[in-house]
Amino acid sequence: MGDSVAGLEALDSSAESRRPAPHVIAVDGSAASGKSTIGRRLAEKLGYPFLDTGLMYRAVTLAARERGVDTNDARGLTRLADSIRIGVGPAAPHSAETCSITIDGKDVTSQLRRPDVEDAVSLVSRVQGVREALVRQQREIAGQQPMVMAGRDIGTVVLPDADLKMYLDASIGERARRRHAEFSHQGRAVTEQIVLEDLRRRDQIDSERTVSPLRPADDAIIIETDGLSQQEVLRRALQLVDGAS
Ligand code: DC
Repeated sequence: MGDSVAGLEALDSSAESRRPAPHVIAVDGSAASGKSTIGRRLAEKLGYPFLDTGLMYRAVTLAARERGVDTNDARGLTRLADSIRIGVGPAAPHSAETCSITIDGKDVTSQLRRPDVEDAVSLVSRVQGVREALVRQQREIAGQQPMVMAGRDIGTVVLPDADLKMYLDASIGERARRRHAEFSHQGRAVTEQIVLEDLRRRDQIDSERTVSPLRPADDAIIIETDGLSQQEVLRRALQLVDGAS
């Protein structure tokens, strides 16, 4: 009898230390806040798939560029988002991207950061019909498996019942420094000042749009990443997953 009680206690305490990981984790944040990198590394640690939803908005933008649909043509963009088939999968080995993306079966991952896509994506993602088409797909994907999903509106709109919501933020200067370093690494010649101005423009469009503006969910845990290394942010995210805060 005594043994079985002790056995139960032992079971209870080990169950506590092995708290099940949250099934659906939302990682939102502004441009260049580090949400994709941290989201992907968190997903790797947990053995979950990772979806960077920004790449889906980029895919619709790329399709619009290729088919001549104007960024002001909300109807045309909605029709386009409803008619193309966007496939998402794990990143190819050695890819700089966190996921791979196809449009109607064709891999377009390497096109998604083209400067013309970069310039237009905030405008395309303001369109309600585009958002509805993509949110539908994102919910379907998250309904099938545990996962980490990163974006701007995951905790507020796409998965309001997510088990854990994080919102990453950093000052615009810090984000511009990080994005500029990434660009330099890729051999793209652009000044830090231009990167900063572009981030400011995108922050403004993303947070002032009427449909699903960028903002933390009321129950999101905000992680300010200024001055923190990726490793430190990941450690903080893993603490949150473990239920420590
Ligand atoms: O995270 P990113 O820079 O790749 O996102 C590209 C654009 O997509 C960005 O301007 C905002 C938009 N976006 C969005 O509106 N909602 C999301 N869930 C993800 C991205």
